[in-house]
Formats: sequence, C-alpha cells, structure tokens
Amino acid sequence: MITLHDIAKKHQTDKASLGYTIIYEELLASKRFQAVNMLEIGVFRGASMRTWFDYFHQGNIYGIDGGSSASCGISDEEILHYNETEGLHTVIGNQFFEADMLKAMETFETTFDFIIDNGQHFQETQQSSFGFLWPYLKPGGIYIIEDMCTHFNMLNGSKWGQSESDDLNDSTISMLNRYINGRGVSSPYFFLNVDIGKIEGNISGATVIYPAIQARGELIGPMNPLSPILGSSAVGVIWKNVA
Ligand SMILES: C[S@@+](CC[C@H](N)C(=O)[O-])C[C@H]1O[C@@H](n2cnc3c(N)ncnc32)[C@H](O)[C@@H]1O
Repeated sequence: MITLHDIAKKHQTDKASLGYTIIYEELLASKRFQAVNMLEIGVFRGASMRTWFDYFHQGNIYGIDGGSSASCGISDEEILHYNETEGLHTVIGNQFFEADMLKAMETFETTFDFIIDNGQHFQETQQSSFGFLWPYLKPGGIYIIEDMCTHFNMLNGSKWGQSESDDLNDSTISMLNRYINGRGVSSPYFFLNVDIGKIEGNISGATVIYPAIQARGELIGPMNPLSPILGSSAVGVIWKNVA
C-alpha cells in the first residue's frame, strides 16, 4: 500500500522533503480508512490538500488560506482554483483575524480529527490559531503546528532558525515546553475569549518533534541546527483527550 510519504512526494508538498510525512504516518495511520475530517491552515497550490485526499479515502478535507491578504504571492482566486475542487473544501481567511477564523468555522460547520497549521508560521498566529481551533478538534484528535522555529520580529520580519540566545519566552516551542514541564497552558497571543482551562483540561499529551533529525532511512535536510531548513522544521503535536 502506498505510504503517506510517497503520496506526498507524488504531489510535491514539502512535507515529504522536510521529513514530516514519515512522522505523520505514525500519527494518522490508525484512522486512514475512516471518514476523518482533516483541516489545514495554509494550502497554497493544493499539494498537501491533494495528499490528504489521496491518503484518507473516506476523508473530508478542509482548508483555510489567507490568499491575497497573506503576502505569499498567491491570489484568492488561485487558492480556490487549486483547493476548492472535488473533495476539497477551502475558505479564504487570514488566521491572524478571529473574525476570519469564525467565518471559516461557520462555513465548515463541523469538527476535526486532525488540524495542521502550515500557514503564516509566526509565533503569534500559531498560538492564536491553536487557542481558537482547540474547541473544534474532536475528542481523541491531534493538533499539529508546523515550522515552529520561524521567529517573527515586528521590526525585522521573519527570522528563520532561532538560536538559544534569542528571547524565546513567547515562542510556540516555549508554549509547548511550559505545558510539557507541568506549567500549564499560557500564551500572550490567544484571542480574548479563549478558555484556557478547557484547553488544559483536554490535553492528553504534547511533544516537540524535529523530523529532519528523527526521520529514518533517508537523509532529509541539512543537520546544522541553525540552518533554515532544520530550524523551520520543528513540529508541535498536541493530543486531545479521548473523552
Ligand atoms: C507553505 S504554504 C502551504 C503549503 C501547503 N500546505 C503544501 O504543503 O502544499 C503557506 C500558505 O499559508 C498561507 N498563509 C500565509 N499567511 C497566512 C495567514 N495569516 N492566514 C492564512 N493563511 C496564510 C499562504 O497564502 C500559503 O498559501
């Protein structure tokens, strides 16, 4: 049976070259043949959406993308052209704005088994989207944050490959490590109405993965800890309680 990694290579999403799909196969395989709902923030030209569609034969695949408002050089029309086709449901929305996220949830009218944030990659939006979307993750679901090492600085723009000397208290990795080390869930970037108690009470586990280091059998990405590829490739995984 074709693996998630091979499907991802066929569709040319960088989730394969970054080693993510080798890790994801372990996280997703038990539900491969179920009618799962998969949501991804950041869909670009549809490579990952088509990967999910091919992998989850019974699945419903949803996407949110900022399109023209996201400064990635792709228009709303192109986003919809590539991502609003048979089996793929996509809404134009900027994850920075709570109103856009609410509109997307009202459009989709469902909850999700898996949510992956591959959108803006700023610390702020990774955390605000996690806080906002957590109630929309089903019991037993998994929330994944890609490229956690992109460090956004308001003055200097995105800085790839954070180093330990940076002030990273507000980084997404720090948010997860605080939880992992028993210091609860907190973020300066959650939207105002987030119920932190409900997030904390519903997490069954969290971890930070470096797929470029952990990928087996294939050398994926350079091994320099300050390199953009490796630096960008830390992935956060948060599991929700089954009930
Ligand atoms: C790395 S690409 C996604 C690649 C896609 N997941 C794949 O594997 O083929 C990032 C996408 O995030 C979108 N994006 C950037 N900032 C965003 C934001 N603030 N809100 C929503 N989407 C955003 C961009 O428009 C772009 O399409």
